[in-house]
Amino acid sequence: MSSPSSTKSISYWIDSTPQTDYSEFAENISVDVAIVGAGIVGLTAAAQLKKAGKTVAVIESKKVATGVSGHTTAKITSLHHLIYQDLLADLGQEKAKLYAESNQAALEYIANRVETEQIDCDFSRQNAYTFAESVKEREKIEAEVEAAQSLGLPASFVKTTSLPFPISGAIQFENQAQFHARKYLLHLAKTIPENGSYLFENTRVEDVKEEKTACRVKTRRGKITAKDVIVATNIPILDQGLFFAKAYPKRSYLIGAPIDPEKAPQGMFIGTGDHYRSIRTTPYNGRLLLLVGGEGHKTGTVTETEKRFLPLEEYAYARFGVNSIDYRWSSQDMVSFDKLPYIGKLTPLHNHIYVATGLSLWGMTKGTLSGMLLSDLILEQENPWLNLYDSTRATPFVSKTSIKENAEVAIHWIGDRLKGRQDSVSELKPGEGKVVDLEGDQVAVHRDEKNKLHAVSAVCSHLGCVVNWNQAEKSWDCPCHGARFDCTGTVLRGPATQDLSNLQVSEDQEGHVVSV
Ligand code: FES
Repeated sequence: MSSPSSTKSISYWIDSTPQTDYSEFAENISVDVAIVGAGIVGLTAAAQLKKAGKTVAVIESKKVATGVSGHTTAKITSLHHLIYQDLLADLGQEKAKLYAESNQAALEYIANRVETEQIDCDFSRQNAYTFAESVKEREKIEAEVEAAQSLGLPASFVKTTSLPFPISGAIQFENQAQFHARKYLLHLAKTIPENGSYLFENTRVEDVKEEKTACRVKTRRGKITAKDVIVATNIPILDQGLFFAKAYPKRSYLIGAPIDPEKAPQGMFIGTGDHYRSIRTTPYNGRLLLLVGGEGHKTGTVTETEKRFLPLEEYAYARFGVNSIDYRWSSQDMVSFDKLPYIGKLTPLHNHIYVATGLSLWGMTKGTLSGMLLSDLILEQENPWLNLYDSTRATPFVSKTSIKENAEVAIHWIGDRLKGRQDSVSELKPGEGKVVDLEGDQVAVHRDEKNKLHAVSAVCSHLGCVVNWNQAEKSWDCPCHGARFDCTGTVLRGPATQDLSNLQVSEDQEGHVVSV
């Protein structure tokens, strides 16, 4: 077994692709459509719009496809765990069918694009499975097969798979696909610049306003004027649509272990139950890399995040006989309370600002679908799926889950402020962080590898919840709506657009934090 020090803490997709070097935004420009975020939603929409003759500007706060799209399992499938029984019960046959059709269409969109443009992205057709190990869970599988078949999906029940352990049954979707997400997205990115279109990196958008004659996208270095704007930042950085109250942020974890092809399962898998595992392989230095994911939790509710990798690693060792773990990384996505993504206008009062969020961990198909739908909306083209995903639809605040999640947000907002936090940092080791009380203020303190203390306000710059330390990612994560900041307080992901404010502190002889 490899020691943890030989395991890279980076997404395999990012580690195995070149760094990009698109320029930063420097001077005011005008385009037809500005797109905030260079992940799968933004790049799919940008490529579609440019192909249709629009000029576009894609504005990425960091590097292309290094956000959620760079941390995915990269499965391209309409088999979304166990969803079709619920969709049939909640929405009825017609709408459930639209969901099924639209996700199959997104899968075929990617397949066609890969073939037509000869994109080198390890794309391969695979069957997808949701499997049950216990007899009790098997009933759910059988019901899902029935539901999926009634919607015309390529579903069947199987008793065995190529997994090296017994199962009680699985739903199989034929002819789905997988790929290397970042290779695919880097190809899309290359098609954007030139002929009046742009792709900017390292450019944070602070605000978007829809005015009478045009939209204005504000960055720290100037403005982009556009007729239409797509905010494709996983959770919109704009608060008007209240999307942070219609979905909740979920972190999940992935490990990558080299495996010989003859020992590897064929297909893409996900288990049932609370502690399900997501499994697939990808080409890796002449062998395969086995990816095992799971251990998800609501963002900001777990501090000892590093421990989340251990059950995944043990699973890979015990179930697949791997000898080492080469990669570990985590991801975060917004989970929609009504199971459908929100794709469309920011609010009913906005005619030119569009969003997509709530992809619920199935972002390759739903992200592609979002790009397809948003470009159709802007191009004023008919699309049979637009109504189903309408982002301004009535919000299901009534579901038990959403009530619970929103109550938890309120608890964090009030509770974290009232919590008397221990203010000693003497036990804080290099590389660790914690929130302490400093004269009544909540302060996020991180000790760097050189033993130097860094302090920022622990009050999230979005709507004021108190952030928590995430040890695995060395970041400050907000439990309310999922904003994340690096250990120095710089925004890593929205909805926050402002960094945590810097504080000057030192440590007294008893290990207490004091202002300087
Ligand atoms: Fe909304 Fe922090 S993300 S308060």
